Amino acid sequence: MAGALKIGFSSLSAPDRGVLIVFAGPDLKFGPATRALLAPVRDLVARAAAADRFRGKSGSALELIAPQGLKVSRLIVVGVGAKTDGKTDSKTDGKADGKPQDMVKLGGGAFGRAPAAAAEVVIAAEFPDGPLTADQAADLALGAALRAYAFDRYKTRKKKDEDDTPKQRRLTVGTAAPDKARKAFASREAIADGVLLARDLVNEPANVLYPEEFARRASALKKLGVAVEILDRKALTKLKMNALLGVGQGSVRESRVVVMRWNGGKKGAKPLAFIGKGVCFDTGGISIKPAANMEDMKGDMAGAACVVGLMHALAARKAKVNAVGAIGLVENMPDGNAQRPGDIVTSMSGQTIEIINTDAEGRLVLADVLWYVGKTYKPEFMVDLATLTGAIIVSLGHEYAGLFSNNDRLADKLVEAGKLTGERVWRMPLGPEYDKQIDSKFADMKNTGGRMGGAITAAQFLQRFVDGTPWAHLDIAGTGMGSPQSDINKSWGSGFGVRLLDRLVADSYET
Ligand code: BES
Ligand code: MN
Ligand code: ZN
Repeated sequence: MAGALKIGFSSLSAPDRGVLIVFAGPDLKFGPATRALLAPVRDLVARAAAADRFRGKSGSALELIAPQGLKVSRLIVVGVGAKTDGKTDSKTDGKADGKPQDMVKLGGGAFGRAPAAAAEVVIAAEFPDGPLTADQAADLALGAALRAYAFDRYKTRKKKDEDDTPKQRRLTVGTAAPDKARKAFASREAIADGVLLARDLVNEPANVLYPEEFARRASALKKLGVAVEILDRKALTKLKMNALLGVGQGSVRESRVVVMRWNGGKKGAKPLAFIGKGVCFDTGGISIKPAANMEDMKGDMAGAACVVGLMHALAARKAKVNAVGAIGLVENMPDGNAQRPGDIVTSMSGQTIEIINTDAEGRLVLADVLWYVGKTYKPEFMVDLATLTGAIIVSLGHEYAGLFSNNDRLADKLVEAGKLTGERVWRMPLGPEYDKQIDSKFADMKNTGGRMGGAITAAQFLQRFVDGTPWAHLDIAGTGMGSPQSDINKSWGSGFGVRLLDRLVADSYET
């Protein structure tokens, strides 16, 4: 699948149409197969490079339109810098140094240089010092799949005007071992589909994607063999999830909790649990948000979107693991029936919470879902993802997600998975010193801890509902949506977390 881009692998030969993309190092150094491919245009490329002062630096590119001697409509030479053997000193310009996340980025960047109107693109998966491995070729393709995504289902005019944009684009990765690369791509395609599914959910507006509709879309995972259970308001009331229900009580859209189970591991082995904040729209409630940029709060379900995307990826690639995905779906609205500041709710855990600010709603939703998952499934660990605080954006910007954990081993693995995928996380502190900020005069705790260390006190609040289970919290407010565009994402929703958590599972927990 992988969206609107069809991806295939073949041996390296001269394409007879479309766009050809090749890689070059300094002084126009090509790998042997690429050199053979470009033999008919050798002088032409050399002259163009000299005229454009192209030296094969990483990040640079040279383009030739309809080059005489080749049948392609465009030849794009992408610079990859000097060292490309995986042992690069990062201080040199050899940015594309063979690490997986760099190959993914390079694939996205290279594919992005082809015009949108190009229906057929061929990337020659060879570096100046030789062929790429099957994994590297597959990573290039993954990057292209992520790059090709666009959320344009509501652009009716664009579709009519630009009839030259092809409905279906095709990428062929030319490589020395196409069969091996195709095999290596199978799991990456499952992951790409999971990321694109998560992006779709994040980009979708809240009038379309409300809790019930979100639950319906999660139900589509059944086709992949995922067991999907939807808890409606009646079920949630019976479970006493009053913290979650309090957030949704001002909305005409009913709240839902969806539990997805993938049992690809050993029978009876403890599952890994992933929990997502799914606030389909966050007005702030009675503590209403200012108007500026409030539209962004349609993305306040990016955590839940990631969990659905991850479950898709795990099931589609038949991961040998037992996993539970649980998402709390609500809409936070001001209304005659909305929750008030000062209200006190009794969470499913029995702990009472005084609502100080109805805009600190994500932690209320997660409190009940974390407790429910911990008690019901007794998981190996729980990882939650949430667009939880503006404070984490102040701390880390849009480059890193905040990581909070009660377990060093789990935290270390997440940091490592972040480095490998490029979905980076930065560990932040937790500690009893922060507890006093969320002590309440009237209840066991209050739902805000003031301006200082806002992302930390939010995490400290969540920790009260994990009851000792190994747990990590990822605050993705800065990375789940609206982050700067990159080589592998041009859309608003990022799908952040799908590749990170898939990697965590694959590297440490699959049997
Ligand atoms: N959904 C927001 C956090 C957010 C802000 C996500 C910006 C993405 C971009 C969350 O529900 C919220 O409103 N948090 C408040 C908490 C405060 C009231 C304690 C915040 O961060 O200001
Ligand atoms: Mn809020
Ligand atoms: Zn929110």
